[in-house]
Amino acid sequence: MQGRIQREHIDQVTHLLVVGSGKGGVGKSTVSVNLAVTLAKRGARVGLLDADAYGPSVPMMLGVRKRGESQGWKATLPLGQRGKLSPAQMLKPLLRYGVKVMSVGFFIGEEQAVAPIPDVLGVLIRQLLYTVDWGELDYLIVDLPPGNDEPQATLCRELELDGAILVTTPQDIARIDTAKGLAMFQNARVPMLGLVQNMCGFVCPHCGEHVEIFPVSTESRTLLDSLPLLGAIPLDPAIARSGDKGHPVVVSMPESLVTAAFKGIAERVITTLAVSEKTLNRRMPGSQEDVEATKGDLFDDERED
Ligand SMILES: Nc1ncnc2c1ncn2[C@@H]1O[C@H](COP(=O)(O)OP(=O)(O)OP(=O)(O)O)[C@@H](O)[C@H]1O
Ligand SMILES: [Mg+2]
Repeated sequence: MQGRIQREHIDQVTHLLVVGSGKGGVGKSTVSVNLAVTLAKRGARVGLLDADAYGPSVPMMLGVRKRGESQGWKATLPLGQRGKLSPAQMLKPLLRYGVKVMSVGFFIGEEQAVAPIPDVLGVLIRQLLYTVDWGELDYLIVDLPPGNDEPQATLCRELELDGAILVTTPQDIARIDTAKGLAMFQNARVPMLGLVQNMCGFVCPHCGEHVEIFPVSTESRTLLDSLPLLGAIPLDPAIARSGDKGHPVVVSMPESLVTAAFKGIAERVITTLAVSEKTLNRRMPGSQEDVEATKGDLFDDERED
């Protein structure tokens, strides 16, 4: 039997986006944070959810760290709560650089070891999406952990994701894993917005020579190569420095080339989303219900139920 995947839409969120990669350490959090702040600086209503329970980076990169030990998130998070929560029961996000921020890291001490069972991670992130009082948002960006396990699987299966951004570095060792991430999103029929090439070369601050720190892969990877390039960001010590200090580079160095690269990425994300919405509307002009139905059709699942 053909089955349609019933994916949920989060009320009040126009675009739910994920930033991922099969590979760790390639700059997913850096891209998520700087993209979120860039969109907010353009006047959009933006939320950022750090979904990395093992190594949440967003609190540090936005200067909202939790250094002490936590009493445990169970005390705070109405995880088992079902149904609609009243505003008083909902968790309040922090506001930083115009972005509403929530992180698993807010419930864990920075140096506290946590080892959530992988299966729980999907439930946890799903609940955070619903128990945080995000309000009306144009964009809610989810910064994913590396790999293709949880919470990615739950998000892909249960949520109506409006777009995925993949981050990779130029060398093949990263591109192999990023291609796996791409396959995961494509299998789940998540619309792909494009690829961000991070740490692309380094301009020596002393002599100005352009150096490729990572070997640029010449191996073709058909699916990955066919993705639109949202932007390329050079390796720049200022990015790491700003991140560690809690002031994203787009805030601390607004006139830099790196900030211009992030502005370009934000521009392309906005344009791509607008084009895909136009396509949906053109396919099924008419009521909003029709549009929603068409969206569902795009995600029809061909697997046996
Ligand atoms: N273009 C860049 N130039 C210099 N440093 C960078 C750049 N991009 C990211 N970094 C630094 O590299 C480190 C890893 O980046 P980041 O945490 O964003 O990666 P990640 O993919 O989210 O990692 P993880 O898989 O652990 O979640 C951070 O210290 C960050 O500041
Ligand atoms: Mg990260």
